[in-house]
Amino acid sequence: MSSYQLLKGKKGIIFGALNEKSIAWKVAQKVVENGAEIVLTNAPVALRMGEIQQLGKELNAPLIEADATSIEDLNNLFSEAQKHFGGQIDFVLHSIGMSPNVRKGRTYDNLDYNFLQKTLDVSAISFHKMLQVAKKQDAIAQGGSVLALSYIAAQRSFYGYNDMADAKSLLESISRNFGVVYGQEKGVRINTISQSPTMTTAGSGVGGFNLFYDFAEKMSPLGNADADDCANFCVVMFSDLTRKVTMQNIFHDGGFSTTGMSVAAMEQYQKSLN
Ligand SMILES: NC(=O)c1ccc[n+]([C@@H]2O[C@H](COP(=O)([O-])OP(=O)(O)OC[C@H]3O[C@@H](n4cnc5c(N)ncnc54)[C@H](O)[C@@H]3O)[C@@H](O)[C@H]2O)c1
Repeated sequence: MSSYQLLKGKKGIIFGALNEKSIAWKVAQKVVENGAEIVLTNAPVALRMGEIQQLGKELNAPLIEADATSIEDLNNLFSEAQKHFGGQIDFVLHSIGMSPNVRKGRTYDNLDYNFLQKTLDVSAISFHKMLQVAKKQDAIAQGGSVLALSYIAAQRSFYGYNDMADAKSLLESISRNFGVVYGQEKGVRINTISQSPTMTTAGSGVGGFNLFYDFAEKMSPLGNADADDCANFCVVMFSDLTRKVTMQNIFHDGGFSTTGMSVAAMEQYQKSLN
């Protein structure tokens, strides 16, 4: 898709590009294609894995490591990013998720509560932390746009999504509640994008992911939205074309969230009845 230069002159921070499958990887490429300058950030362990270094080179973007659960790291990140840009930031993407319970195969009725704390801290509270740090530093410009990526398991139960569902509900709630304060005081908007199942490292860590993916593909009138589609939507949400959109959870899912039954799903179900 061609570039519309919707983000010409804008400056942003992109959290969560791990490898070329990552949604944040595609967002980084698309925002730069649309005229933005960015700083890339991820946890120290992700930076050591090295793939993000190539993305940094490709996009001429500095890498600043930050564990998104560490206030100290976030303070350093937002101040270094502002030094780099010589001023405030216009947009931020939170594209972070991780559940030790999912990783270790603990089911929802057998959670390890230390793991649950970690899931919530990494996948949701980190969003509050980055917003609080940014606001205290007055790091985001008037009209700035902040996005986090969510999933429909925040509203409806998806068997196997486990404690990530609770993390996503909290993430969306933080977006609404911080959206009030940041909007009123500084004109900064905050939204979550509820994305289709997407073939990435975090995505395929969820038990039965291929079935989730196929089910959503068959149920969605437009089919699943992929990482490139998501990146295009992020560009629009970071642009001045969506200046009055805030505190929303926007479904970017090919129509999945409002479909009850589709032709493709009926056909599939019919096969098993036969
Ligand atoms: N893949 C899907 O099916 C899907 C669907 C809807 C929403 N999402 C959401 O999209 C976001 C991005 O995930 P993805 O699918 O691109 O997978 P991904 O594995 O590529 O990205 C997850 C990122 O989180 C980062 N991360 C983990 N712990 C961190 C920490 N302590 N500090 C900083 N960064 C940390 C990882 O390094 C990685 O870059 C997540 O919030 C995920 O829940 C994914």
